[in-house]
Amino acid sequence: MAYTVPTLTDYSTAALEKAGGECIAACTAEATEVRSDLDLKSFRDRWIGRKNGVLTQVNDLWLKPAPKEAKREAGMRVNEIRTAIADIIDKAEHLRLELSTAAIESVDISLPGIRRPIGAEHPVIKTMHEIIGVFQRLGYSVAEGPVVETDYYNFEALNFPPNHPARDTQDTLFIAGQQAKPQRERLLLRTHTSPVQIRTMEKMRPPIRIVIPGTVHRNDPPDASHSPMFHQIEGLAVDKNITFGDLKGTLDHAMKALFGSSVKTHFRPSFFPFTEPSAELYVTCFICGGSGKRGADPCRPCKQTGWIEVLGCGMVDPNVFEFVKDNGYDPKTVSGFAFGMGVDRLALLKYGVDDLQYFFQGDVRFLEQFG
Ligand code: PHE
Repeated sequence: MAYTVPTLTDYSTAALEKAGGECIAACTAEATEVRSDLDLKSFRDRWIGRKNGVLTQVNDLWLKPAPKEAKREAGMRVNEIRTAIADIIDKAEHLRLELSTAAIESVDISLPGIRRPIGAEHPVIKTMHEIIGVFQRLGYSVAEGPVVETDYYNFEALNFPPNHPARDTQDTLFIAGQQAKPQRERLLLRTHTSPVQIRTMEKMRPPIRIVIPGTVHRNDPPDASHSPMFHQIEGLAVDKNITFGDLKGTLDHAMKALFGSSVKTHFRPSFFPFTEPSAELYVTCFICGGSGKRGADPCRPCKQTGWIEVLGCGMVDPNVFEFVKDNGYDPKTVSGFAFGMGVDRLALLKYGVDDLQYFFQGDVRFLEQFG
């Protein structure tokens, strides 16, 4: 039987206590029956609804008609009941909320699982790891630096003075709105990984042997052999008595480790502001073996020359050491060599891919082939 508010004739303390206790007990019991949000709503309406809720009735049937001498006590009782009911409703609401948010979900363990294809290393990253591995086995460690660089690290400290024409060869992408800053602090997208040579020499005293992988940017419209973003690996070795012979020996070994022991290397004079002397390194074409021909056809990757250019290199220019002299790089006591290669081009040649853009389009059908 649902609880109804009785009329009171006896206003003694004991009678008030009994009636109040029964009312609260009834409310507590009904709270346990709340199963849904709808139940909760009717429970609230029934107990604290303004119009005909139990609490309103308690007010009307017990408090209003109470004789003068019992008014005070009846008022206190009714207040107790109000607080108790508010408490019970509050608890019921919390319980509902907890139940409705708990995941009531069952799993059919007999269903087959969802097969997720296993990813593969991207061909450019794979080539990068191979190159880094060769140098790590020679005792080199890996250093990195920021892609958004200052004019100072990308140019000035690498011996490209302001307005030097060699800056033009870099097709630099500049960050907008930097004119208010002094030139050396202006930001740009690094055009090569060479700024990390300076950053590393500022942090580590000689001797050092490091390779620096990373992305670089140049204002080149994308085509089969160009991309505004590409990857380089830089190398730097500084110690006492490092010679051009060390440079040749190291790179010759690295090329054999990468392309096979029958590959030959060949150095041609070149120019970079931060190395002196500078050279370009060529390897015998690993597609045609240096013959310039593939059967009766001309070999395309080496343009029939039998040689492929793989990197720029040279002995660190003393002017570069001047910028980090205070950290132990006095050009009178140390010497070193540096090199930098374009990883994407090497990956193209290695995998016989005929368009650089495939590397950056993210087409799974292309990438799957390297899994
Ligand atoms: N930074 C040069 C480039 O991007 C390559 C290079 C690195 C040359 C180190 C010499 C020494 O073309």
